[in-house]
Amino acid sequence: MSTNMDRSGRQIETFPDLDAVSREAAQRFVTHAQAAMRDGGRFTVALAGGSTPERLYRLLATPQYRDRVQWERVHFFFGDERCVPPDDTQSNYRMAKNALLDAVPEAQVSRIEGERAPQDAAVAYEAAVRAAFGAEGVPRFDLILLGMGPDGHTASLFPHTDALNETTRLVVANRVAKLDTWRLTLTYPVLNAAAHVLFLVGGADKAAAVHAVLDGPPNRDEYPSQGVLPTDGVVTFLLDSAAAGQLR
Ligand code: 6PG
Repeated sequence: MSTNMDRSGRQIETFPDLDAVSREAAQRFVTHAQAAMRDGGRFTVALAGGSTPERLYRLLATPQYRDRVQWERVHFFFGDERCVPPDDTQSNYRMAKNALLDAVPEAQVSRIEGERAPQDAAVAYEAAVRAAFGAEGVPRFDLILLGMGPDGHTASLFPHTDALNETTRLVVANRVAKLDTWRLTLTYPVLNAAAHVLFLVGGADKAAAVHAVLDGPPNRDEYPSQGVLPTDGVVTFLLDSAAAGQLR
């Protein structure tokens, strides 16, 4: 494992493979959860979608990690969701439920209702987040898990889409023309209010985007992952060696 910090204060750690990345992420999840609970509080975490984090979620469900967290004090949210029903194979909720959330009390999970009209789902989820965090200000998640697409998108903040410019709403429905679909996503204000953001990125197909995001000049519209710079928090990239292959 190698560690460094870039000029934007982003911590970058590389690992031999995705299994090692997932084990590191699982350990960090437990550490952050235990820290949040030590103060007698709850642990609020927004889950990433896609395929990369599934190994992490399955690891967290194993006794080695599961037995170290008081799950009744963990509140699960989602960073984004596809506009599909919860039992759809494309659903991020379905993936996380099968991998981990089936073992968690339903009351601890705030699902984005992908089956609803996108705008209604966004309004409803913003209300749910505000109900959990308080009506005023921007919610500060203890931990937000994120992935990165080969185009540098994260959550459902895709290049050149309207959601990138949202400065007040916490959740928006984002039209992604290149996928010919709507997505539901947390916005930069929420991502950048987090105490800890953890990117999990694996695979050679992400190497060019990782290089552009971490080594390249600021260009958030082209590489939306660049826009994740918590104002009072830490962002860490956990990369496998393939995804880190083009890093300077
Ligand atoms: C989604 C995710 C998205 C994902 C990246 C990487 O809903 O798809 O939130 O941002 O993290 O697209 O996806 P993979 O992990 O499948 O490569």
